[in-house]
Amino acid sequence: MQVTYYGHSCFLTEINGARILFDPFITPNELAKHIDINNIRCDYILISHGHFDHLIDAEVIAKQTGALLVSNWEIVNWYIKKGVTNTHPMNIGGHWMFDFGKVKCINAVHSSSMPDGSYGGQAMGFLIETPEGNFYYSGDTALNYDMKLIGEFKTMDVVFLPIGNNFTMGVDNAIIASDFINCDHVVGLHYDTFGYITINHDEAVEKFDAAGKKLHLIPIGNTIEI
Ligand code: NI
Ligand code: MN
Repeated sequence: MQVTYYGHSCFLTEINGARILFDPFITPNELAKHIDINNIRCDYILISHGHFDHLIDAEVIAKQTGALLVSNWEIVNWYIKKGVTNTHPMNIGGHWMFDFGKVKCINAVHSSSMPDGSYGGQAMGFLIETPEGNFYYSGDTALNYDMKLIGEFKTMDVVFLPIGNNFTMGVDNAIIASDFINCDHVVGLHYDTFGYITINHDEAVEKFDAAGKKLHLIPIGNTIEI
């Protein structure tokens, strides 16, 4: 699969013929100044929770692309009120077969409220299973023991995990998470955007190396093949 990083927690994955955009927060991100959201083409927009740094560009991108917006019940209804018409509500524990494969919503240990203060449902992560490979996008979360269930019942080729600390788990807990999930291929998210979550890249990569794992820190705007 191809993975393009748009900064913070926003990725575009291309897998099994589908372009899936996760947690679009681009235009307010100083580090992603060179990204023009008008050029983003996607078929699906998946939103993990209601915080502004995960969805601020979702309405514009959903309307300009016509992509299917997938999130929890509360977030989807918030977007329906804003005139987004192509939506699919889900919630934790459920899965749905989309044309590219299976999406299962799983627990994230985090809070969730919308930019206007309204209730944002429960934060969640996504397990994606396709004929071309499987991956887990955790969204914002603490390390939690439920991640062992993924390692026990699923085979993930790559996992997207937060490494910025303060609001989510940091590097050390992400290494433990990847043990729980039984996947040594990690893409880092939720780091460097704000002062609270600035990390030392070399140190993070070295810690993963020492644990026998690979941490990808993709330069913003770059695409890698995984
Ligand atoms: Ni958050
Ligand atoms: Mn966040």
